[in-house]
Amino acid sequence: MKQAQIDPREPPLISARIPFIGHLIGILWYGPKYYQIINTREYPIYTLPTLTTRNYIVSSPTLVSLVQRNTKSLSFYSVIVEVTRRMCAFDEDASKIIFYNMNKEHGPDNSLMTVVHDMMNKNLAPGPKLNELTLVQLQQMSLMLNNVGIEGAVSSNLYTWIQHVFTVCNSFAIYGAENIFAVHPELEKDFWDFEEGMLALVIDIYPWITARKAYLARKRVFNALTEYVKKERYKQASALIQERIAINRSFGLSCEMIGRGELVLYFGILGNAVPTAFWLLSNIYSRPQLLQQIRDELEDALRLNPQMIPPKVTVPEHIVKACPLLFSCYRETLRDVSNASSPRLVLSDTMLDKYLLKAGSIVQLQGGIMHQDKKVWGADAASWNPYRFIISDNTSDIGDPDDFKRVAAALPKGVPPSAFRSFGGGSTLCPGRHFAQSEIMTFIASMVLAFDLQAPCGATLKMPQKNDSSTRLALMMPVTQPQVVMKRRIGWETKQLEMTL
Ligand code: HEM
Repeated sequence: MKQAQIDPREPPLISARIPFIGHLIGILWYGPKYYQIINTREYPIYTLPTLTTRNYIVSSPTLVSLVQRNTKSLSFYSVIVEVTRRMCAFDEDASKIIFYNMNKEHGPDNSLMTVVHDMMNKNLAPGPKLNELTLVQLQQMSLMLNNVGIEGAVSSNLYTWIQHVFTVCNSFAIYGAENIFAVHPELEKDFWDFEEGMLALVIDIYPWITARKAYLARKRVFNALTEYVKKERYKQASALIQERIAINRSFGLSCEMIGRGELVLYFGILGNAVPTAFWLLSNIYSRPQLLQQIRDELEDALRLNPQMIPPKVTVPEHIVKACPLLFSCYRETLRDVSNASSPRLVLSDTMLDKYLLKAGSIVQLQGGIMHQDKKVWGADAASWNPYRFIISDNTSDIGDPDDFKRVAAALPKGVPPSAFRSFGGGSTLCPGRHFAQSEIMTFIASMVLAFDLQAPCGATLKMPQKNDSSTRLALMMPVTQPQVVMKRRIGWETKQLEMTL
């Protein structure tokens, strides 16, 4: 794209040294941090041209709010539905159905996306339906943890072990006893192979050659999902899945396409919760003093006497949620590892504050940049501060370690909601955030109470390095997956855990 093609009212242009492909090379090389590296003038929004389109990169929370409010001409679904189509390899008929009236082009009637969106939000909002789902999830997790370490220490790859726990428990809670992983346990590896190669599948250039492993793994998962729908195994699933499948049927999707569509939800459920749990556990266990503070906080909240632990320890999710230090570590972990970009397609020329956004361009709300912004988060924005989300009642300090017994807040004082990007925002804010918070925090609390985690040599766990140059859809992965030894804590050797509401 030549300089002359840019309207002077558009956000400032950052040109690539190598025309047309320079930025693509930069993104592939540096990952999402490229968006920050090239913005040396710290523009709140800038234009980054690539081979096929203009990208407007937003890093100002104020502009983010304006983007989120404009649902008419800045469309999230135009991008996400296309990503979903490629991820699920929808056929032509299914594509027509999911794209139809997505942006109300044909009048006020609801599109499939809107109906599913509203149903998901209803089922996952705090209330009896969510409680039912969460309770089954926590019961499953208790069953799994109660079998770990009672016969002595266990050595595992921490990442794949967490993948296993969440895959089994979430699938059971959401997709029912006859979910695809219960019927075909060998598909667990396939699902995660698909997840690892998902971006190449979404890029969709001869995926059977460029992303062969993920492509074949996805095919096997598709077959199982089709079987799940055809054999009506969803009849034992949560209300959420039953309603989802009924809606998809009513819009005319075939059994095969309905099955494939579940892959995207599986990604939403597992693809974000697993890395979050992994990073949170790693952050805590690699800091012995912090680990002890969280143990003290939990034992206080649960009124546990460390000298006399009962044979069965109940860990209620609502009590865990009220533990400020653990909650602060959870939010800080999400801030630290999230790269969500909440893209939008510009449907018609749009003024965003004083900037012109041209139709056909893509707007990206770059979470990774905003989460590192010192102007928003303070001088230590680049480091992981376990106390960041703890505020004292009478000061406006962010992250004062002496205040850690006070209250935790969803955001430090002075940070606008639009600056915390881990769950997106506006009308597309992640509906699964309450479920995710309950399952992750209760799981971590139970681990911290009952288990010691060490490196195989017996040393304290080292904090794994973040792979911040890899382009994943939402959260960063570790460069290498650490091997750990999980051991019951003294006094907890045979104790049973009951995670509950
Ligand atoms: C730590 C865990 C999770 C994280 C970090 C996360 C993050 C996100 C993000 C960034 C978005 C895009 C929102 C936007 O850009 O505005 C999203 C959307 C979504 N998430 Fe999550 N998510 C998590 C867990 C879950 C779970 C457990 C579920 C389901 C039970 C779920 C269901 C969804 C759905 C259905 C959408 C699409 C929303 C729409 O259609 O408007 N997520 N999530």
